Amino acid sequence: MGQRGWGSDRRLTAISRGGLSVPARQAVVDGQILPGSAVLDYGCGRGEDVRALEHMGCEAAGWDPFYQPDVRLEPCPVVLLTYVLNVIEDPSERRRTLQRAWELASTVLIVSARLTWERSKVSGEEFGDGLLTRRNTFQHLYGTRELRTYVEEVTGVRAVSASPGIIYAFKDDTARLSYLARRIIADDHWLASDDRTSAIAALVRVSLRDHTTAQVIVGAILGGTAAAVVFAGLR
Ligand SMILES: C[S@@+](CC[C@H](N)C(=O)[O-])C[C@H]1O[C@@H](n2cnc3c(N)ncnc32)[C@H](O)[C@@H]1O
Repeated sequence: MGQRGWGSDRRLTAISRGGLSVPARQAVVDGQILPGSAVLDYGCGRGEDVRALEHMGCEAAGWDPFYQPDVRLEPCPVVLLTYVLNVIEDPSERRRTLQRAWELASTVLIVSARLTWERSKVSGEEFGDGLLTRRNTFQHLYGTRELRTYVEEVTGVRAVSASPGIIYAFKDDTARLSYLARRIIADDHWLASDDRTSAIAALVRVSLRDHTTAQVIVGAILGGTAAAVVFAGLR
């Protein structure tokens, strides 16, 4: 296992947690990963999420340029890219990594990164657009808005913040809207009723740039306050 010409000791950033990572857990809570889901953990490190996801009945696979380089990469409905971007010291490689993960995701890409508010936990010298620690590991700590904007810019789609430092980018915008709507009403029976289904369908047909019309439709479905929250998420 080589260091692949990296400018920092990235393999050292892969830790053992003894359970599912926070972003993987969030994706389970949000119903993006369910028992039976096919999940690819891109940059899986020591593979703990893969094992935990297999344990909960997912078809999980992991690839990592250091720990699991020989796994064949194939498109997968759910792709995890967790705490990888922040350890890559080369901005062009960082971007290519995100692009590659997005190409591999056929339904949703889940991206997480360490955040600027952890700055006090990371000591090191300034290096490029981040910090180089005494162990020769690199960290580019993201602002929450910076991470979402970066994912949107590279993928070309609107992304959502599931929680600070955890971003979902959906291949199909209907899935993003459903996710946002479900955040408001956890019980998704409403999606099954005829009038609400057609209203949501109308919303999706409406150009998303026409927020006023769309907000009226969502308001009819969810009520004005909830619609305002949905549209705050869309902006
Ligand atoms: C902080 S660890 C995260 C591991 C795992 N995703 C997790 O959350 O536990 C960062 C991992 O990114 C991998 N990595 C480094 N450069 C990469 C690249 N260009 N593409 C994909 N993974 C990369 C490293 O080998 C390392 O295992």
